[in-house]
Parts: sequence; structure tokens; C-alpha cells
Amino acid sequence: NRTYVVTGSASGIGAATAELLRERGNRVIGVDLRDAEVVADLSTSAGRVAAAEAVLAASDGQIDAVIAAAGISAPRALTVSVNFFGVTEFLEALAPALARSTAPRVAAVSSMASLQPNSAELVEALLGGDEAAAIAIGTALAEDGPETGYLNYPSSKRALSRWIRRESITPRWAGAGIPMNAVAPGTVVTPMTRELLASEEGRAMVDAAVPMPLNGHSEPIVIARLLAWLTSEENTHTTGQTIYTDGGADASLRGDNI
Ligand code: NAI
Repeated sequence: NRTYVVTGSASGIGAATAELLRERGNRVIGVDLRDAEVVADLSTSAGRVAAAEAVLAASDGQIDAVIAAAGISAPRALTVSVNFFGVTEFLEALAPALARSTAPRVAAVSSMASLQPNSAELVEALLGGDEAAAIAIGTALAEDGPETGYLNYPSSKRALSRWIRRESITPRWAGAGIPMNAVAPGTVVTPMTRELLASEEGRAMVDAAVPMPLNGHSEPIVIARLLAWLTSEENTHTTGQTIYTDGGADASLRGDNI
């Protein structure tokens, strides 16, 4: 019986994950903008700190795993604040409490989009930990139009997958016995994608960008099951990875290029 913290718990992948973990007898502290045990805004530094404090208060400082699923895909700089710093700063604040667990685990939700064209300059600013610089770059991209504005999303996910890879092997995480991974879903049917998938043109666009020859679009529970395994006691040696659970999209798009 473990205590899990799940961000983005009010909807989609986060909600499915919280439900699955509860069904399996675990305690879940959900974090979201609404309908959660901890209502907080992960888009700002103050919000992340407040969220971590509220989680520690609710759990008496006893947490076993954090699953970071909160994210947005808007063509604007807010996307990098939520998707990158909303994960990294929140995880760092909870690292000391995690290190006290006998089987601590971390997983975050990246995306197939981490492989799509992105802004190298933005990715560098994110990995450098400079949120003001990242917001400035993301805002300039958004001002150039929706197509460049969209680059905020793949850039946030590329940086997140890279951050997890770099950080996972450091004393803070590996040194404290904490496996830390990302999952990269293909197209999942959630409120984030519902509108796009409702029209034939939208579906055609999505399916051209993310081909899923195995079983097509997935339900959120598919991603939840992998997140649950990665953060279970069974996972002792998988770390630093971004695991594509994408119906074959990565294999289709990258082929031998890994
Ligand atoms: P969703 O929109 O159904 O759920 C996202 C949740 O995050 C919502 O409950 C929302 O309130 C919360 N959230 C957003 N901004 C927040 C903030 N500032 N502070 C706290 N909570 C906030 O979306 P979905 O599809 O479940 O997405 C979950 C994750 O999966 C995201 O990181 C997304 O980028 C990723 N993803 C989704 C894919 C899809 O096809 N749906 C594909 C690949 C990745």
C-alpha cells in the first residue's frame, strides 16, 4: 500500500492513472487546477512550491512515487512553463521526501511530439533552467504565428525527456535509489485531443504526424498501466528512459535511426 502523487489528476491520462492506482489499493494525492486533493497551478514557481508543500502536509511527508501527467498543448509559452518547469521544479521539491521511501519512483508524461521538429534554442533555455529566457523565446515563437507557436509543445517535451535522461543518473535520483522515467504516448483520446479528433481533417493531420499501425489511438488507461508499472516496486533498474507506448509511431517514424 503506497502513497502516490499524480499531477493532472482531474482529466485524461492523469485521471485514469489515479483511478487505476486507487483500484489497486494505493493512496493517491491528486494535484490539478480543479477537482483534486491539492488544487494548485503548476505554471508558476509559487504554484509549484505551494503544491509541493500541500502534498507534504497531506501525506505527513510520506510519499512513495510521483507521476507527473499535467500538461497542455497550447501554441504559447505557458506550455513550456507547465510541461517542463511544472514537472522539474515540482519533482525537485519532492525529492527529499521521496528519498525517505523504501521504494521511491518517479515517472512523467512526455510525448511522441518530443521527436518532432522543435526550437533548439528553447530546448537549451529549458535545460539551462532559465524560465524567464524560455518564456521570452516561447512568446516570440507564438508572436510569429500558430505554426512556430506550436513549437513550444514539442520543445517542452524534448527538453523534458532529455532532463529525465540527464538527471536520472545523478546522486539526487539514482543515488537515492529513485528510478525516473518518461512515457511517450502516441495519440490518446482525452479532452486534449478530442476536438482535433472530432473532424476528418483533424484526424488525418494527427494520423499523418503520428502513425499508429498497432491498435490505433489509445485510451488513457493504456498509458496509466505503464506509468503504474514504472512507479511500482517491480521496477528496480529501468531509469532515464522515454518509453514509447504509441502503437508503433516511433518505430514507423524513426525506423533504424536510434
Ligand atoms: P488533459 O487535458 O485531459 O489533462 C491534463 C490535466 O492537466 C488537466 O486536468 C489540467 O487541468 C491539468 N493541468 C493543466 N495545466 C495545469 C496547471 N498549470 N497546473 C495544474 N494542472 C494543470 O490532457 P491529457 O491528454 O490527459 O494529457 C496528459 C499529459 O499527456 C500531458 O502532459 C500531455 O502533454 C501528454 N500527452 C497527451 C497525448 C494525447 O494524445 N492526449 C499524447 C502525448 C502526450
